[in-house]
Amino acid sequence: MKRLLFTTLALAFASTLAAVETVWLDTLDLQSLHQSWGHPQINRSMREKPLTIAGQVYERGLGTHATSTFRILLNRGTERFTASVGLDDAAGTDGSVVFQVLADGKRVYSSGAMKRGQAAKLVDVDLRGVRTLQLLVTDAGDGITNDHGNWADARFTVSGAKPIAYVVPPEAPYLLTPKAGPAPRINGPLVYGARPGHPFLYRIPTQGTRPMMFVAAGLPATLKLDPTTGIITGLTPPRGEYALTLTAKNGAGQATRPLKLVSGDTLSLTPQMGWNHWYAHYNRVTDVMMREAADILLRTGMAEVGYDYVNIDDCWMNAEADAKRKPDPLRIGPFRDAAGRLRPNQHFPDMKGLADYIHARGLKAGLYTSPGPKTCAGFAGAYQHEADDARLFAEWGFDFLKYDWCTYGTLVTKPTPLDEMQKPYRLMGDLLRQQPRDMVFNLCQYGMGDVWQWGAEIGGQSWRTAGDLGFELDRIFEVALKNIEHRDWQKPGAWNDPDYLQIGYVGNARGEGLPEPCNLTPTEQYSFMSLWSLMSSPLFFSGDLAKLDDFTLNVLCNPDVIAVNQDPLGQCARVVKLDDEVFLLVKDLADGTKAVGLCNAREAPVTVTAKWTDVGVSGKQAVRDLWRQKELGTFATEFKSEVRRRGVVMIKVGAP
Ligand code: GLA
Repeated sequence: MKRLLFTTLALAFASTLAAVETVWLDTLDLQSLHQSWGHPQINRSMREKPLTIAGQVYERGLGTHATSTFRILLNRGTERFTASVGLDDAAGTDGSVVFQVLADGKRVYSSGAMKRGQAAKLVDVDLRGVRTLQLLVTDAGDGITNDHGNWADARFTVSGAKPIAYVVPPEAPYLLTPKAGPAPRINGPLVYGARPGHPFLYRIPTQGTRPMMFVAAGLPATLKLDPTTGIITGLTPPRGEYALTLTAKNGAGQATRPLKLVSGDTLSLTPQMGWNHWYAHYNRVTDVMMREAADILLRTGMAEVGYDYVNIDDCWMNAEADAKRKPDPLRIGPFRDAAGRLRPNQHFPDMKGLADYIHARGLKAGLYTSPGPKTCAGFAGAYQHEADDARLFAEWGFDFLKYDWCTYGTLVTKPTPLDEMQKPYRLMGDLLRQQPRDMVFNLCQYGMGDVWQWGAEIGGQSWRTAGDLGFELDRIFEVALKNIEHRDWQKPGAWNDPDYLQIGYVGNARGEGLPEPCNLTPTEQYSFMSLWSLMSSPLFFSGDLAKLDDFTLNVLCNPDVIAVNQDPLGQCARVVKLDDEVFLLVKDLADGTKAVGLCNAREAPVTVTAKWTDVGVSGKQAVRDLWRQKELGTFATEFKSEVRRRGVVMIKVGAP
């Protein structure tokens, strides 16, 4: 008996020993490794040389580029993961990255910021019982230039199921937003800020069959409404609050909605909405495209749910001839005329005409420049011509300026003291305020110097809180959670901006190639819109308007979801963490109800429970499904729902 037991144990031990094997990271299928630049390299660096970290050469491993994400299914079969990580010696000097390992969504390793020349760090993590693994290389917060991160000598010790690269399950598009009916539905903000005595323009966003008749009761004498288009123009009345009642009527019915007009200093009392050309057209943008954009916003109904800014990004000015960047010849020319006046390039023959065209449709026009001598894409910047340019933009009739940082960095000391960082924004903020028209000011300096703490004070209405989201599209949940860290600074007229909605057809973030379907699943695209709405983030769609399909419009144009974004309180939702990758977003709304997002950042569906104690309510509560625009009944203590892989279920809790 004893002998038998011994033999059995010995056999079992031997079979365990035999089962332990090494699986090299570089043998996995790399199709699902997403990175922001180039392609992952097997057993060599991004520069196609031997993997080398601080002089040490490694035979095996992966050469990747930040931001990179590699999802791997371990299915509880792996014991350890080990690797030597660091920046490759062949990268330029200014790279810096952070290597992270996430086990079932929980961070189990972080290298901290690493620079080139720094000795490799050893990763050695226990992965027993872990289902999914993520290997991340992030940009350490300073952009992705030269971020060549190596996972050298990277291997799994495996005793069960072998690790396999995770491939996102395909998902067919599905429509959540019900079709708008024929009767009028007035959308748009409930409160609108403008400065006294300035030109006023507001188009009442209204769904429903045309023709339609509009009435605006309580309209001050300085304003007039075109009853057929619903466009209000004139001059903003003297300082004060004006309670308007808007009515829209057609053959199918009638709708009424209040609008509080606040004549004062604060613009953008609710987050800006519109379209920006960048992530669709980059340096291919033209005047024709911008005019078409205005028409498409009207034709598709996007304008009827509130998208009203039509914003040109970079590349509308002139660039110098440049052998490396090879700008389009029609975009090469002198930056300014003899009098110092900025010259748009030949694709923009009539900037005033363009702004007029957009205004004639009741929409607003925006543009972009940089405080440096050149913009990020190498076009004329505003440096030393700030006052002339601000005046010119106002003269042309623009309503919005995005002000980047690029090339200004070459003019300042490093590390840059806060007042130097603020200086160009303070200057432009003052100049814009002095113009005889309302011009919204968006600070695009990627969150430097904790801009959310001072952006409003120097005249901004919104500021980017991070780098370009185009490089991190598969991390929208993580980007949102980072943005929410600054929620306390956000208020009406002062918005944290985590960058544009990049859904539908978008281009590669490096500006190469024509727009293609983005690589987010339909659920992730709904999540994008849900997260941005719950955060009260500016809603700028930056995909290709010419390729809008029913699905993308369905995601962009749900008035119930947009109403959460445009809520007058302007609150950014707070996070209630339920586990590492599952959380609630809870947002107070002006009518006393709460908008709640049941958020699942996991790779698999999960049931998420919103307990009333977490939501901050008690007793029976009415629940409305905001995407489906459907009442779900009343619930005594909690609301539970299955949430798809990387999905968000959005509900409204409480009467009315
Ligand atoms: C920076 C900004 C982008 C875009 C480009 C234009 O990268 O962050 O949003 O404006 O510049 O070159």
